[in-house]
Amino acid sequence: MSKFAWVTLTTNDTYSLGALVLAHSLKRAGTAHQLAVLVTPTVSEAMRDRLKDVYNVVQEVNVLDSQDAANLALLSRPELGVTFTKLHCWRLVQFEKCVFLDADTLVLKNCDELFEREELSAAPDVSWPDCFNSGVFVFTPSVETFNKITEYAVQHGSFDGGDQGLLNQYFADWSTADIKKHLPFVYNVTAYASYCYLPAFKQFRDKIKILHFAGKLKPWLLQFNSETKTVSTPTDYAHAQDLIQHWWNIFCDSVHDSLSDQMAGLAGALSQLRIGAQRTPEQEQYENLMRRQCWESGQIDYSGADSFDNIWKKITQTLEAKPETSSEADQTGSS
Ligand code: UDP
Ligand code: GLC
Ligand code: MN
Repeated sequence: MSKFAWVTLTTNDTYSLGALVLAHSLKRAGTAHQLAVLVTPTVSEAMRDRLKDVYNVVQEVNVLDSQDAANLALLSRPELGVTFTKLHCWRLVQFEKCVFLDADTLVLKNCDELFEREELSAAPDVSWPDCFNSGVFVFTPSVETFNKITEYAVQHGSFDGGDQGLLNQYFADWSTADIKKHLPFVYNVTAYASYCYLPAFKQFRDKIKILHFAGKLKPWLLQFNSETKTVSTPTDYAHAQDLIQHWWNIFCDSVHDSLSDQMAGLAGALSQLRIGAQRTPEQEQYENLMRRQCWESGQIDYSGADSFDNIWKKITQTLEAKPETSSEADQTGSS
């Protein structure tokens, strides 16, 4: 068994959709190494069971949240305080070396050579290339390092309120000390147009090894036609349409059948889809609602007011109330 592992994180059933597609993309790329996923207690049992089908290790961890509303507002991503939870990856000491991948990444080619790199290797962030992007990084598990980073976080916080600011502060000499720790950009290509150098994207697209859907708009939030199995891409993603379609192809081929209505959020909604068959209007309405909720808020109260059961109840009540036409109403109105 390999001593190396790919590691990701998910704190809810919706991000877990990304984690499932990511795992299948790693397997398709023929990795020789193990797969590990950190899950928080807010990931449903049903989802953990499915994660166990593809991940060698499904490790429960507690949520670490920066609670730094001011810096997160500067990043325009209030929901990313929980990315401090990523730090638990350093506690996976059963492995000699690991590569962390965000759940919104997609592996397009075998990247096993990354395990030859040392901690902390990462690719430059497109918006500030003297910082590394923390969606893909090579690290060496160590409880001592975990303790040092968390102590550092308590003392200094993070300049972006998320793990990326913190890790760039902690591994502060990344941009100058050792060029071998600069991963080529093809290991972490940001797909969103406003972060993207489009002519280069076109020129080098066949060289991309890992695509990263950084930004609010994740592949699972895009409109997907289950009848034709095609995804509609907004203009900001038009140049990457085929790659987003690739995410959805993996979803249809390898993930969809494993979803169940015991799952929360969009995962529960998507489990109701019949791929290749026409959707009912109720299903469309339900999915749209779930997408909007996921989009509007990274923090969904899955177990309370926004649970699958409550929303489904509300939709069926609304639909049952609607068909009443005015003539029917006239006939029944007096009773
Ligand atoms: N994440 C999560 N739940 C959340 C937000 C983030 O599990 O509510 C994890 C997930 O692995 C995600 C990573 O933290 O890929 C970083 O967040 P995201 O990818 O949304 O940040 P971006 O790359 O868009 O800046
Ligand atoms: C970044 C990274 C992501 C990180 C977030 C918060 O844009 O892509 O991995 O979690 O910022 O720091
Ligand atoms: Mn990301």
